[in-house]
Amino acid sequence: MALRLGDDDPDFTAQTTEGEINFYNYIGNGWGILFSHPADYTPVCTTELGAVAKLKPEFDKRNTKVIVLSVDPLDSHAGWVSDINETQNTIVNFPIIADADKKVSTLYDMIHPNANNNFTVRSVFIVGPDKKVKLIITYPASTGRNFDEILRVFDSLQLTANYSVATPVNWKHGEDCVVAPAIATADIPAKFPKGYKLVKPYLRYTPQPNLN
Ligand code: BEZ
Repeated sequence: MALRLGDDDPDFTAQTTEGEINFYNYIGNGWGILFSHPADYTPVCTTELGAVAKLKPEFDKRNTKVIVLSVDPLDSHAGWVSDINETQNTIVNFPIIADADKKVSTLYDMIHPNANNNFTVRSVFIVGPDKKVKLIITYPASTGRNFDEILRVFDSLQLTANYSVATPVNWKHGEDCVVAPAIATADIPAKFPKGYKLVKPYLRYTPQPNLN
């Protein structure tokens, strides 16, 4: 059955461009992002992997390890990584799983036969330190993902995990958050010393809690 939010991440051990990796060991006590792309030596994927390599400092700030998957074999990955480095002016700095036997892509339901029987779609899984699945996104092969949006989701997930807030529509880093519904209004002053604005009993804004 397909994975759903809140499920235990199924974990895997796979051959990658950085040797054999066990996913749980790889992410340790931090966060992980696993994403698939349809195939090596394709234009959209080349731009995506170059962009993700450049975002390494942002993933590091969020205590997040990146791992990528396609169903192509290791020797194909090696040649393609050289092309990514050359054309995207970067150095690929994350492992790419060689899932030629489709073991990992099947485990995460990354092959959608009505889209393509042989190749993975653009799946994204964010996994928390508790090894639960926190986010699933699926994009079609022809649309490159927006990794700024994915970083924004990491910020939101990490605020929720650490401060009992949620983030409203189109929220961006630095903007007010909303107090989680589970927090009684009477408990807000003790929990949110920066103050709050009550618009409705169920709609309470507070400044982003992890900023000075
Ligand atoms: C690409 O990565 O460029 C791509 C892959 C499959 C279909 C269309 C584009």
